[in-house]
This record gives sequence, C-alpha cells and structure tokens, in this order.
Amino acid sequence: MRVLITAGPTYEPLDPVRFIGNRSTGKMGYALAAAFAAAGAEVCLVSGPSALPAPAHSAVHLTRVETAAEMYAAAAAEAPAADVWVFAAAVADYRPAHVVAEKIKKAGDTLTLELVKNVDIAATLGQTKRTEQFAVGFALETTNELAHARDKLHRKNFDLVVLNSLRDAGAGFGHDTNKVSVLDRAGRVVTFDLMAKADLATELVRLVLARRAAPVTT
Ligand code: CTP
Repeated sequence: MRVLITAGPTYEPLDPVRFIGNRSTGKMGYALAAAFAAAGAEVCLVSGPSALPAPAHSAVHLTRVETAAEMYAAAAAEAPAADVWVFAAAVADYRPAHVVAEKIKKAGDTLTLELVKNVDIAATLGQTKRTEQFAVGFALETTNELAHARDKLHRKNFDLVVLNSLRDAGAGFGHDTNKVSVLDRAGRVVTFDLMAKADLATELVRLVLARRAAPVTT
C-alpha cells in the first residue's frame, strides 16, 4: 500500500523576510506517516515548514516544501500512484498577490495586503480520485462542526473526514493530544476520546484499513 500524506503549515512569502503562515506543527501528519509505515505502507510525506525531525521509519519518504503551490506540485506528482491520500496539512487558503523582491519598508499608519486564493490541494486531487483510491481529509471547525465537516467530505470527495472541534480542550494545533470524530459518506460518525496524537494515528490507520476493505457506495 502506498500512502500520500500532506502535513504541517504552508508559508506564503510577502518579501524576502516575511511570510503569512499558521500555527500548525505537523504533529498529526507526522504521527500518521509513522503509523502507516508501522502498518507496512510506503509513505510519501509532503510537509510544509515544521520543526519536527523526519520520521525515523525507512518507509517514510519526506519531501519538504514551503508554499501551497509547492505542496500541490509535490502531492500531485505522487497522487496517481498512491492508494490512500491523507490531507493533514493546514494549507494557507490565500497568498499575497505580489511577492516583493526587496524588504517592504514601513510607510504610513496602515498597510493593506492583497491576497489571492491558493489551490485547494484536496479538492483538486479529489476530482481525479479513482474508485479504488481512498481519501481522508481533516476539518478544523468552531461552529456547526458536523454540518461543515459533512460539506467538506462531499465537496472535496473524501471517503473519511476527521473533525477537530476547537471547542474541545487539548484538541488541534500545537497539542500532543487530539480529540476527533470521523465521518464517512454513509453518515456514520465514530467519536474518539482525547488521546495522544501517536495513539490516535494508530486508530485512524486501523479505521482506514477497515473501511478500504469494506467500502461504502453513496
Ligand atoms: N486543504 C487543502 N488545500 C487547501 C485547503 C485545505 O488540501 N488549500 C485540505 C486540508 O488539508 C484539510 C481539508 O482540506 O484536509 C479542510 O481544510 P479547511 O481549511 O478546514 O477547509 P476549507 O475548504 O479551506 O474551508 P474553510 O476555510 O471555509 O473552513
């Protein structure tokens, strides 16, 4: 089994010293890479800037990228050959419209940045997904969590969506623990207790393997 995983944040440059980014650490994606490798898979891990060391397992092949465009290019190159896609990255939805070659000097009391939309990696690759391929996405929500997660499941052609609610203590960015619910296309919801990201990764791999063996047709 070949698995493609996107992980970490993306950094979208503004000038040679500044970027727009987010607080993702990459922990969940790296934990999933290690768990899939431990289950016998060959893993292509495409990671945005993360302080984490490369997973030690020899079956994990790490490609480091910076921007959403680079992450898309690396993921798109691997996607056709992968059996499972896991989109765990916190991709910047927008990037600065202009990247300035010199450092932007301060001038005036306000500064307005123009941003343009980035490629949606999961949704774009989702349109190319073959029946035998399996896609897992993540949704980080603060309101109407289940409805938004269900919408992403269908819009991005996921087979499973892992829902993090920011209302849950210990869940989401920066923590070593996570608390998630997993939704599928048949409307089933599996809720996990708060647990270490490494343990959750093992549970998610187990769920993916079980669901691939017994696919839902909707
Ligand atoms: N994702 C992606 N490429 C993007 C944005 C998101 O691959 N440009 C993936 C994430 O890795 C995640 C899923 O899509 O698996 C959900 O991302 P999220 O940002 O929560 O969803 P959005 O569609 O951007 O919706 P919104 O910002 O409205 O919540």
